[in-house]
Amino acid sequence: MSAFEPLIRAVADFPKPGVTFRDVTPLLADAGGFARCIDALAEPWQGSAVQAVCGIESRGFIFGAALAQKLHAGFVPLRKPGKLPPPLVSVDYELEYGSDRLQARSDALRPGERTLIVDDVLATGGTLEAARSLVAQLGAELVGASVLIELEGLGGRARWQGEAPLRSLLRY
Ligand code: PRP
Ligand code: HPA
Repeated sequence: MSAFEPLIRAVADFPKPGVTFRDVTPLLADAGGFARCIDALAEPWQGSAVQAVCGIESRGFIFGAALAQKLHAGFVPLRKPGKLPPPLVSVDYELEYGSDRLQARSDALRPGERTLIVDDVLATGGTLEAARSLVAQLGAELVGASVLIELEGLGGRARWQGEAPLRSLLRY
């Protein structure tokens, strides 16, 4: 077990009956645990010359911004609708019930910029795949993606397209 895994709280029947929610707030509140988590997220990408880290709203901002600092890269927020000023690029994606949209500033990444995508949780995979599509629209070079938690039963990895590696630290 990793040093920070005990800091992730399993909450039964949230947000609805039958779902076990993985709550990362105890990890964030623990200075040493959070630092070790960011070290572990960064480790596979050291030496990959990452120039930009894209974090997905909202918990992906927390891990992504800390990881960007660790990798000496810039941070780019990928946001839900209505948050960023134009001009924008957008991707619509399917949720378990309904759909959502992810957006970035159309100048957020330079063509060919070496980019890493970060989020806290991979569940059904729609959000991460939308982020990958946004990075592609912007013409950046995708180095890969990292998530803290992969919920293996939900099949998110199968939706991830292309060659870039998708890494997860903890799998449930
Ligand atoms: C959660 C999580 C991921 C996404 C994963 O975000 O932080 O971004 O769901 O789900 P998927 O793999 O099925 O697409 P949520 O929409 O709950 O937003 P939040 O971070 O603002 O709480
Ligand atoms: N924890 C946090 N975020 C999530 C989860 C979870 O278990 N499932 C989908 N998004």
